Amino acid sequence: MSDKKILFATGNAGKVREIRSILADAGYEILSMKEAGVQTDIVEDGSTFTENALIKARTVAGCPEAAGYIVMADDSGLEVDALGGEPGIYSARYLGEDTPYSVKNAEIVRRLEGVPDEKRTARFVCAIAAVLPDGEELTTRAVIEGRIGYGEAGDNGFGYDPIFYVPEYGKTTAQLSEEEKNEISHRGKALRLMKEELKRHESDRCQ
Ligand code: IMP
Repeated sequence: MSDKKILFATGNAGKVREIRSILADAGYEILSMKEAGVQTDIVEDGSTFTENALIKARTVAGCPEAAGYIVMADDSGLEVDALGGEPGIYSARYLGEDTPYSVKNAEIVRRLEGVPDEKRTARFVCAIAAVLPDGEELTTRAVIEGRIGYGEAGDNGFGYDPIFYVPEYGKTTAQLSEEEKNEISHRGKALRLMKEELKRHESDRCQ
């Protein structure tokens, strides 16, 4: 059935792997843009994570190769309270797209010099948007709360993981295994919420 096929608007193989593992049991086939032969430029100019996820999903859904697919996209980032929510929706572009994360992480830690533990609160946010073959749009959003550490710790994960400390685990998200992180992460939670939304939409349609 064509509407059990999801095209995930990302070039990131790790995200495709994660969405596959979370949505597989619901019977969805997941394709990346490359696998579906979609090539398009996406201008992410929204002012929230949800707007940007919708922009990505709508742009890809407008490509002829995407016809008949559920097109899904995500947008995510790190919000640091003591920095007024920075880097936020600019997380990937913070200090420049190609700047190594070791530099970005060091700069965030530097900007928090003298900020006590209880004020180092931060969260990873993930919004997911889906454009369905019938034109309906679904969105979900989830967070994981944590604190910014005093330096990098851990070799797993990517991006800001080495400075994102999760008090409940006594570890940064870079010190968690991929499975442990998927259980509690913003993206894992938002994907599981999207799975519920898709199920609800399917059962509404069948009534
Ligand atoms: P995008 O959602 O692919 O645009 O990514 C946004 C940026 O947010 C990434 O490049 C990372 O810098 C950051 N980010 C989002 N999720 C995570 C995460 O789970 N760990 C570390 N950094 C993240």
